Amino acid sequence: MIARHVRKLEAYVPGEQPRARNVVKLNTNENPYPPSPSCAAVLKSFDLDRLRRYPDPVFSDLRATLAKLNGTSPENVFVGNGSDEVLSIAAKTFVEDDEAIASLDPSYSLYKTLAAIRDVKWVGVPNLKAAPKAALFLLTNPNAPTGEFREPEEVAAFAKKFRGVVIVDEAYADFARANCMALAAAKANRNVLVMRTFSKSYSLAGLRVGYCVGPKPLIDAMYKVKDSYNVDAVAQAVALAAVKDQKWMRGNVAKVVRTRASFAMELEKRGWNVIPSESNFVFARPPAPAKAADVFAHLRSQNVFVRYFPGPKTGDRLRITIGTDGQMKKLLTALKKS
Ligand SMILES: Cc1ncc(COP(=O)(O)O)c(C=O)c1O
Repeated sequence: MIARHVRKLEAYVPGEQPRARNVVKLNTNENPYPPSPSCAAVLKSFDLDRLRRYPDPVFSDLRATLAKLNGTSPENVFVGNGSDEVLSIAAKTFVEDDEAIASLDPSYSLYKTLAAIRDVKWVGVPNLKAAPKAALFLLTNPNAPTGEFREPEEVAAFAKKFRGVVIVDEAYADFARANCMALAAAKANRNVLVMRTFSKSYSLAGLRVGYCVGPKPLIDAMYKVKDSYNVDAVAQAVALAAVKDQKWMRGNVAKVVRTRASFAMELEKRGWNVIPSESNFVFARPPAPAKAADVFAHLRSQNVFVRYFPGPKTGDRLRITIGTDGQMKKLLTALKKS
């Protein structure tokens, strides 16, 4: 009854969402600051009658605004129910049954699961030096969970030699010094999609909106595959309000970036090894003899949630989301108690 590949599938494990409110939650790279007040205004005045009808299937207003923001045309923009949905649609659109999906390793662990759901091979590579044989390369930049940033030139050179579609997953790009959007919008581009999300810099993880920009033939193909009404009416309206308030988003990003610098310095003072991050999290190794798994468990016992990824490539570090200065202070205090 259940497909063979699903029976043996190891499901993706999302970060814990504790129900208690009085915890310090630094485990899923959410934004500690609220979304733009114009999002609240849209919600308050939202006409319930609009919910009687199906939403705009091609999210025309949101698409036009996103196109303008990114210097491209609406026909080059695709919107999904979170960027996770964009990824899942891409896996259905660009990959044949006997082809592979590739990504950096370590990277966003959902990619491997997506390949397993699609019942195709996943190939992990340590860097972008060689182009692996695959139909789709999911390239997180800045990378997760490491926070490392690759220059757009390196990404462009890789895309040129890769034979399939490259999705540059820029979930964290607003926290970085540069991004690859120009690559997606370039006229000569035939195989690069640049993907963004509203979940991080726009503080809207609960809304579920993500999008990608790229060549029309690829975007058109994704429209063929998507569910008819994949982005609900409320999400379209609230996301639109958020994009229009760039100043608010930029202000929140600046605060997170400032806290990132001071927190990384504090950890280093305490003997931690911190990979330079261009993201809204740091990937850090506690000083010996402390073990990351034990520090994770200790912090959790103190109601401080961070993320621990077991395994040979990631198991010696913790991924810590950058919260408010107050939250980072609480984490540092909890560390002292170990
Ligand atoms: C690299 C990366 N891509 C995509 C996502 C998913 O984002 P969304 O909330 O838009 O589905 C995440 C979420 O943590 C992420 O880390």
